[in-house]
Amino acid sequence: MDYKAYLVEELDGVYSGSIKELQMRDIEPGNVIIKVHYSSLNYKDALAASGVKGVASSYPFVPGIDVAGEILESSSNNFKAGEKVIATGYKLGMSVFGGFGELVQIPQEWVVPLPSDFSLLNAMSFGTAGLTAGACVKKILNNNPSFKNPVLVSGATGGVGSVAVNLLSNLNYEVHAITGKLNEELILKKMGASKVIDRNEFMAEPVKALDKAIYSAGVDTVGGDILSKMLSMIESHGSVACCGNVAGMKFTSSVFPFILRGISLIGVDSAESDINFKKEIWDLFSSDWSLNLDDYSKVISLEDIGDEITKILDGKQIGRVVIKHGD
Ligand SMILES: NC(=O)c1ccc[n+]([C@@H]2O[C@H](COP(=O)([O-])OP(=O)(O)OC[C@H]3O[C@@H](n4cnc5c(N)ncnc54)[C@H](OP(=O)(O)O)[C@@H]3O)[C@@H](O)[C@H]2O)c1
Repeated sequence: MDYKAYLVEELDGVYSGSIKELQMRDIEPGNVIIKVHYSSLNYKDALAASGVKGVASSYPFVPGIDVAGEILESSSNNFKAGEKVIATGYKLGMSVFGGFGELVQIPQEWVVPLPSDFSLLNAMSFGTAGLTAGACVKKILNNNPSFKNPVLVSGATGGVGSVAVNLLSNLNYEVHAITGKLNEELILKKMGASKVIDRNEFMAEPVKALDKAIYSAGVDTVGGDILSKMLSMIESHGSVACCGNVAGMKFTSSVFPFILRGISLIGVDSAESDINFKKEIWDLFSSDWSLNLDDYSKVISLEDIGDEITKILDGKQIGRVVIKHGD
């Protein structure tokens, strides 16, 4: 079976992508072949597309860590041809060719059925970024944040941040959004942020061991000093979900937020999460946590992926980018 894909190749240390015809190998036992209707652009895909070490295992490679589509061929008892499904994470788009191709072949254990009342397009409007935002919110809600103080979200206009702002606001939490794009204040307010905080202003004062405890919880999508500061501002027994590193891998903290306020720092790794946890989040997105992301996601074709990759690497992307295969 031939299929079209955005293939990233390396030549003399320079990585570049182009659309190529590839051939799908015969199906292996326990696998499914999915006809991908939609994939989405995540930060990790942009890293894989530009040859950053530690993401794609080898090149030539097809990025794309998430897909929504229908089963074309199945060697599994759990899925049959024609069934609509979602797959995110594990080795998809890391060492297994991903959703920037019209077909993927993956183990059935990575796949969840598309929830009823949920479209394939809707699924990839959330995509891995949305799933990660959902995982962050689920984990801070498990810690029963008070409604007394707002929840703080960093990287608010990004893929993860924008879904987190939308979701928390839909769940009636007051949301304060940290952003480097003050010109996007209106869109952040439309997503549900009651206050938009300039990233530079947030970081203007040095990080203290303990600051005023004015937030009930935090969703940090950027790491670095912003995470350090966030930790110092969370009220007693609140929590921070940490999932990203665009602002830096390292952060510093004293022990005081933990031993004097009892706060929790919760790590989120959506890619390797248990498949049942992923299913739980998708089911929530198709029911109690349903969100209309139409105004915060754009649908592009494979031909336009290059520009969008540059934009996400520059931190200039807003909301979600969905890749549509076929007409
Ligand atoms: N752990 C997991 O399971 C998981 C899953 C998905 C993603 N991630 C990680 O989460 C992070 C965000 O992913 P994403 O898909 O939301 O990416 P994204 O769409 O590019 O959003 C990142 C946002 O962070 C802000 N930002 C960019 N550069 C920054 C800097 N130098 N300092 C502070 N803020 C900066 C920008 O928003 P503003 O301009 O609004 O500030 C940007 O839009 C990435 O590190 C990604 O690898 C982790």
